[in-house]
Amino acid sequence: MEDTHELEKRVEELNRLLTEYGRAYYVLDRPAVTDAEYDKLMQELLAIEEQHPDLIYPDSPTQRVGGPVLEGFTKVRHEYPMLSLSNVFNEEDIREFDRRVRAGVGDSVTYICELKIDGLAVSLKYEDGRFTQGSTRGDGTVGEDITENLRTIRSIPLKLNESVTIEVRGEAYMPKKSFVKLNEARDEAGDEPFANPRNAAAGSLRQLDPKIAASRNLAVFLYGVGGDGEAYGQAAHSAALDYLDDLGLVTNHERKKCKTIEEVLDYVSSWGGKRAALDYEIDGIVIKVDKFEDQEQLGYTAKSPRWATAYKFPAEEVVTRLLDIELSVGRTGTVTPTAILEPVRVAGTTVGRASLHNEDLIREKDIRIGDDVKIRKAGDIIPEVIGPLTDRRTGDEIEFHMPSDCPVCGSELIRIEGEVALRCVNPQCPAQLKEALIHFVSRNAMNIEGIGERVVDQLYTAGLVKDFSDLYGLTEEQLMTLDRMGEKSASNLVHAIAASKENSFEKLLFGFGIRHVGAKAAQILAREFGSLDNLMAASAEELLAIHEIGDKVTDAIESFFANEDVLEVIGKLKAYGVNMQYRGRTAQEIPEDGPFAGKRVVLTGKLEILTRNEAKEKIETLGGDVSGSVSKKTDIVIAGEDAGSKLAKAEELGIDVWDEAKLIEVLGTKE
Ligand code: IVH
Repeated sequence: MEDTHELEKRVEELNRLLTEYGRAYYVLDRPAVTDAEYDKLMQELLAIEEQHPDLIYPDSPTQRVGGPVLEGFTKVRHEYPMLSLSNVFNEEDIREFDRRVRAGVGDSVTYICELKIDGLAVSLKYEDGRFTQGSTRGDGTVGEDITENLRTIRSIPLKLNESVTIEVRGEAYMPKKSFVKLNEARDEAGDEPFANPRNAAAGSLRQLDPKIAASRNLAVFLYGVGGDGEAYGQAAHSAALDYLDDLGLVTNHERKKCKTIEEVLDYVSSWGGKRAALDYEIDGIVIKVDKFEDQEQLGYTAKSPRWATAYKFPAEEVVTRLLDIELSVGRTGTVTPTAILEPVRVAGTTVGRASLHNEDLIREKDIRIGDDVKIRKAGDIIPEVIGPLTDRRTGDEIEFHMPSDCPVCGSELIRIEGEVALRCVNPQCPAQLKEALIHFVSRNAMNIEGIGERVVDQLYTAGLVKDFSDLYGLTEEQLMTLDRMGEKSASNLVHAIAASKENSFEKLLFGFGIRHVGAKAAQILAREFGSLDNLMAASAEELLAIHEIGDKVTDAIESFFANEDVLEVIGKLKAYGVNMQYRGRTAQEIPEDGPFAGKRVVLTGKLEILTRNEAKEKIETLGGDVSGSVSKKTDIVIAGEDAGSKLAKAEELGIDVWDEAKLIEVLGTKE
């Protein structure tokens, strides 16, 4: 048996190191160790915690990966209301704000200007230095408890540098880079992309499964204290923000104190140009009166403080010529019209193309080829055609009509009921096949290094690969006939392809590119059915019985496996030895009845007869889910000797408490 004391000490050390390194990385933006070193320590901690769930501290860095799925969000009444800001749109409005402020508190006023982060307002509660609750703004009085999602955000410390009780306010957001990556992945999975980073951040934090938020790389900037700022010993907002920094919270450092309104105006206009270079979206500048005393004197209207206002940037719009409308065929056969534009700079980058989405939209906006069009970037990122300048028309503009046939394979396009898009449904369409191959080899699918868009194109054009299975028959000699493919690359590629046969079943399933079956659904299906054969044999009822699988996914799966060509490709993949079995424990292997089926169990205290691990394993084989901390969702707490706070909490919550004897009786064994 391991020396428990030693182990506890190591866990504490790992907690401390990982928290410190995490803080250096996410809060201070100054990494202290390499990613590899960090990962190694994290793996060590995860391994220990897996064996010893009682050693999982609530603020362990492992608890950022997202806990169990919630049934719903509970409402939180804000102790101090979360107000919003009045808006101003131009210089004159800003001067008017300044006049009103000076009329109220005199000419000694100082302002503090901050970036207005475009995300989602959140309130974070810390009690004795520990993060205890996080919520959305809601209607300003009552918001939703999104603690579990916020816990996954690395820039939110779970523990402050001082053990204060404080409520802080800020903005949760998604960095632009993460937004672009997320949309690429969604596109690949056939999911609707998010319109802008704010929607993406809000969408992530409103998910009931915290693992989704954990995977979204969100961040936060705190911009204030809930309630009376002076209560923390500071005389001004700027000092309160410095105090938040000292506590280990992340504030935005682009803020500036300004003595005159001219300085404020300079700050505002300087950011109009600079904001494109930031890795997060801002939609304006917040101007606040700095001294708390002055703030109090100015007071509030019903909705917003009189001591602050938000200047909103106008969305940058530019005019350019629409040269042509091109069509592209995606992996799922959707034919998308794309505007080809005379290249023009907008919000920091040169734009030459913009998706027009579908024919209805082109009609609605009355966009014609040859038009001068106004464009902007939606959410400052995705180029969008707003509409034509009709008064500049010469009469030579050409109305656009979607073709009736696929621009690549010539087969008739279909409009699927309930969808606006036209679709090429020919499974042999080269455009779709190529897109499907690119998806199949991509990182989250079969992850075959050395093949990308260019090589897929070459392989297809050379007639070497027509479907997924053909990849597995490729030889080095064949590959070497391709342009820019040397002996070494060809050999590496053959090896990479062969190695992918051993990939997990869920990667293969995701790689098939079935509509609506993204990585997550593939994982669920693999776990539920255990093998491709089982999945193919599953009825619609069986599919629908799975919690996360709905009509759309079920229909897509059924029609995918009803396709003769698909069956042939699967047969060939099987013959090449591609793995089609799930290697983890399937849902079927977890019994549905039995004493622990569907029950959440917590072990605490010292057991006499069984080791904690044995107990855990046995409970799990009988369908139980053993977790480390007691909550309202816990069904049974098994308390050994010297059980402490977990037992107390269980009693407080009225949870069923068993002793070891009862456990053994139920397990029916006394080893
Ligand atoms: S101060 C009582 N500062 O803008 C004043 N708000 O309506 C509280 N926002 O949804 C707001 N950046 O979440 C403040 N530096 C900043 C901000 C900021 C973004 C958001 C805030 C709210 C909206 C104002």
